[in-house]
Amino acid sequence: MAKIQAIKGFADLFADESRLFAFLEQSARTVFFRYGFTELRTPLMEYTDLFCRSIGTETDVVQKEMYTFADSKGRSMSLRPEATAGVMRAYVENNVGAKEGVSKFFTTGPMFRHERPQKGRMRQFHQINCECIGPKEPEADAEMISMLMYFLAYIGIRNITLQLNSLGCPNCRPAYRDLLKSWLKSLDTDILCEDCKRRMETNPLRVLDCKNPQCQETTKNAPLMLDHACEECAKHFQVVKNCLDTQNIAYEINHRLVRGLDYYTRTAFEVVSNNIGAQGSIAGGGRYDGLVESIGGPSVAGIGFACGMERLALLLEAPQGEKLDFYIAALDDTCREYAFKAAQEFRRAELRGVMGFESRSIKSAMRQADKSEARFAVLIGSSELEQNNLMIKNMENGSQEAVPFENAVSYIKEGK
Ligand code: HAM
Repeated sequence: MAKIQAIKGFADLFADESRLFAFLEQSARTVFFRYGFTELRTPLMEYTDLFCRSIGTETDVVQKEMYTFADSKGRSMSLRPEATAGVMRAYVENNVGAKEGVSKFFTTGPMFRHERPQKGRMRQFHQINCECIGPKEPEADAEMISMLMYFLAYIGIRNITLQLNSLGCPNCRPAYRDLLKSWLKSLDTDILCEDCKRRMETNPLRVLDCKNPQCQETTKNAPLMLDHACEECAKHFQVVKNCLDTQNIAYEINHRLVRGLDYYTRTAFEVVSNNIGAQGSIAGGGRYDGLVESIGGPSVAGIGFACGMERLALLLEAPQGEKLDFYIAALDDTCREYAFKAAQEFRRAELRGVMGFESRSIKSAMRQADKSEARFAVLIGSSELEQNNLMIKNMENGSQEAVPFENAVSYIKEGK
């Protein structure tokens, strides 16, 4: 029969990658909990409208990349393309703002975007996501960025660049947007790619971060947001930079950093690596002061980021898996119950091991024990059963001994 394959861009994560992912999640908990974050797990699917209103209908994510379908009642649902929208929905729906002044949520899990798969770009990928809802002060931006850099250093990631920009606010961005739009229109727009021709009308800032070299060259003298930021935005950005300077956190100002989601205001940032190919952005985020309001919540500020776990994994080596302590096998059918009981007892005593369920000859049991790479082979034949013993072989030095059942756990533990 024809084999069924996984969906393109959806991966199975076997032991090495799973161990690496578990390490990333555990490290994230350790670091983020130090900053007062708590964990929030939101659904993988939401009403499509949530993403349209938060991420923005003019973004690539909403226009081209969401997995959207109607449920049996004809309601439009989408698999989450990112975590922020769901976290904000949960915050508003549960009235969290009324209970706490500042809310810090950490989320991890799969996200879905229908992009062209390549190294570091999957259709189901995983994010570690943090949101800090409440503070409007620039120190909160600096704290989030510092926490991200601390986390990346904690997990052992080096040789990365932090890029910063300010995207302005509802006071200054509309005028800059208009200015940029007229500037773009004054160009020979035929040179721009099809996406940029469309974005020029709908979302002109996105033209700036188009990766097409010809578009970049054509727009290299475009007016910059930072030169047209209002006084408040300029002040905010200065404090963020000062706080990072005080901590010796290096950054580059990237005037073309716009981000692909429309909810950002003021500070936007990305962390980029040059060692993983074209998809070098390992984390990105920014401030989103109007977001909660746009989905029907109170007027409350916020800032957050997400790291792509697949991309972090490309920069790290999987931690070594621990060896099994034992491989246990019965040499004939009458001994199987005894072997089963011993295996259970060992695990309750915190030993790790597997049982070969088939009764085997000594030779074949030893072959299986070898394959399992366990430290000890535990074999049970009729004489062991009669004398309430276990035959235990140390697979590292080859020594072998009949050990009374009640001493087996300490024998294995001491031999470790
Ligand atoms: P984003 O830049 O779209 O931001 O994604 C954040 C990170 O997710 C990227 O830097 C990248 O590492 C990873 N990523 C994105 N798409 C893919 C993909 N197709 N395959 C593998 N990795 C991918 C957000 O999602 C915002 N929600 C971040 C945020 C949180 N802003 C505020 N709060």
